[in-house]
Amino acid sequence: MTIGGPALEGTLGPVDVAALLGAGALAPSSYNTQPWRLRWHEGAVEVHGAPERALPATDPGNRELRLACGAALANVRLAVRAQGRRAHVRLLPDPEDPWFLGRVTAGGSLAATSMETSLAAAIPRRRTDRATLAGQGISPRVREELRRAAQREHSWAVFLEGTRERRSLQDLTARAHAVQQADPVFRSEWARWVGGAEDHGTGLPSGLVRREPRPDGRWRLRDFGALADPDDDRPPAAVDDPALVVLATTLDQPLAHLHAGQALQHLLLLATVRGLAASFVAPPLEVAETRAELRGLLGGALWPQAVLRLGVRQRAVPRPPRRDPGGPREPGVRADPGP
Ligand SMILES: Cc1cc2nc3c(=O)[nH]c(=O)nc-3n(C[C@H](O)[C@H](O)[C@H](O)COP(=O)(O)O)c2cc1C
Repeated sequence: MTIGGPALEGTLGPVDVAALLGAGALAPSSYNTQPWRLRWHEGAVEVHGAPERALPATDPGNRELRLACGAALANVRLAVRAQGRRAHVRLLPDPEDPWFLGRVTAGGSLAATSMETSLAAAIPRRRTDRATLAGQGISPRVREELRRAAQREHSWAVFLEGTRERRSLQDLTARAHAVQQADPVFRSEWARWVGGAEDHGTGLPSGLVRREPRPDGRWRLRDFGALADPDDDRPPAAVDDPALVVLATTLDQPLAHLHAGQALQHLLLLATVRGLAASFVAPPLEVAETRAELRGLLGGALWPQAVLRLGVRQRAVPRPPRRDPGGPREPGVRADPGP
């Protein structure tokens, strides 16, 4: 980890600040933009959204940006707990600053539970794994565990079990994909972050992914192809039959997005602990009409925030680059005005 910084001496003993910032920096984010700024300030890790890493075409409302920052907050929270300290999370702590998304304070001593220890240990092991997946191997007990993990984070994990729902999601994904691909602004935003020749510590460089989405007639995943073999143009195996989980919230404002981000990370880490692979299906959530239809598919009372494909993990996946979470801006990143 490139993050420096001393272990600070608090009243209750040292806090390994670099470990906390490093954990936050390993959160997932759309196109690996890492749209956060993390800093240690007055005994807490602050998570600020980074507007210059926003995706105006893909994520015009910054919803996914807040999901990513919520995931970073969850990682920091777990890393604090892994150090045997209470973790106090305050979301949107400054009403004057909408980009100040959360703060995790290291409190008094309290030993981590074995589950917290396992989840924290999974932070550096978790990957987005875009392989073809078989979801049948996920036991009812693990499915229930995943549902409960989401509930603890004020969110819902809804498994799409029925053939009709799964087909509808497929259809919505294909439609959203077509809308996005027809938009030159979307395509140029994508090209800016995905498949570039240089590794600036963000985005998905060409060594890891192809620039075009997998020509997969079935799912139309924006999964950038198989990470393990960027030149593999074969259609996915017939066994691509993942469990499909929609992560949803009852409200759809910034606070709900931060809760959903924490839920997302909790689910992904728990999946890692249970030997599962996970990848995302974001397009139907990024196009307003298809997101509204997905909301209808869930019964109309919940706001879908993320769709995950889950299956039994079968391979190792390299980690995409990360930048120093508090470090300087890398070349090519624009400065945007406020929200
Ligand atoms: C809100 C959100 C949406 C994402 N959408 C997609 C997607 O549609 N397709 C995809 O292949 N990966 C998607 N990802 C995964 C990111 O590309 C991935 O997190 C990033 O490249 C960092 O890699 P890692 O998760 O292995 O650390 C998404 C991640 C987040 C947080």
